[in-house]
Amino acid sequence: MNILGIDTSCDETAAAVVVDGREILSNIISSQIDLHRKYGGIVPELASRKHVESINYIVDQAMIEAGTTFNNLGAIAVTNRPGLIGALLVGVAAAKSLAYAHDLPLLGINHIEGHIYANFMVHEELPFPHVCLTVSGGHTLLVEVQSGGRYEVLGGTLDDAAGEAYDKVAQYLGLGFPGGKVIDDLAKQGDPSAIEFPRPMIESGDYQFSFSGIKTAVRYFVEKAKSSGEMPPIEDIAASFQSAVVDVLVRKTIRATEAKDARAITLTGGVAANSQLRASMSEAANSLGAKVYYPPINLCTDNGAMIAGVAYHQFQAGQRDALDLNASAAGPIAESQHQIAS
Ligand code: KG4
Ligand code: ZN
Repeated sequence: MNILGIDTSCDETAAAVVVDGREILSNIISSQIDLHRKYGGIVPELASRKHVESINYIVDQAMIEAGTTFNNLGAIAVTNRPGLIGALLVGVAAAKSLAYAHDLPLLGINHIEGHIYANFMVHEELPFPHVCLTVSGGHTLLVEVQSGGRYEVLGGTLDDAAGEAYDKVAQYLGLGFPGGKVIDDLAKQGDPSAIEFPRPMIESGDYQFSFSGIKTAVRYFVEKAKSSGEMPPIEDIAASFQSAVVDVLVRKTIRATEAKDARAITLTGGVAANSQLRASMSEAANSLGAKVYYPPINLCTDNGAMIAGVAYHQFQAGQRDALDLNASAAGPIAESQHQIAS
């Protein structure tokens, strides 16, 4: 069954057509980064307006590239939670209009469930239970995936998302927006032990995270170093910051993997592209006999394919949403109970 999946939860206008939850016929992603760059972060109102401009074109492209028509779709799926409310509403309105016009079933999908599902699209034999770390500009969430579609949320960030910390630190260092990849690249040339940044909550014994303290520590360090004229190489700052973030992410994920006796770890979200996170997580997981999985980058970042993928299983489990489907800025994933066949 072909499903059109739409995601406008943040700053990407995305649409995709996926067959039976796995075979991606098209995956069109229009990034708004150039629009937001000069503000050093996502401006929600601008994001909504840009989605309005782009959505019809992106959906058309997804349908054309998939070589399909609305007559050949089985359902339309859309991210309706969580995310920027104005941005979500654009996708939801588009999906409802299309479902109504073409008399197709409509499904509202949780964005985080989409991120978790991204690994299922490319790794057919993911063992259960596994621990999934979702790390992006908007989210940091640690979840035990007990079986396809059954989750226990173990913890999340109490303040900034990991990607948000990368983006803010890049701003303090004058590296532009978004900053994750630039810092990742600079860190490869730097000394991670040059500066001792804090690792908040690393020993807290739970699965919660806090990144705002690391971010602020970098900010004070840079201000002080500049005023004293003793600025260390930017590569050392990048490497030291990155190792603080990665240490916390790895420590808590590994602890959860041990506690849940899980055999695998999945990484997803934009920060899952980070080279040190991948390397350090794999090394730590190896010592437990667990394996680390991550999807290709166009499935790590926001996309419509992961939404169409989740929707296939929720459709099979009987989910249908009415045309009064609404968007919500928040949205827990724990209520999901559908099965994802491997
Ligand atoms: O998933 P995503 O595209 O968008 C959402 O936030 O939903 O994630 C974007 C985030 C940004 O904060 C960006 O700086 C970060 O992912 N990022 C990285 C890397 N590539 C992207 N962070 C660390 N290392 C990277 N290589
Ligand atoms: Zn996302």
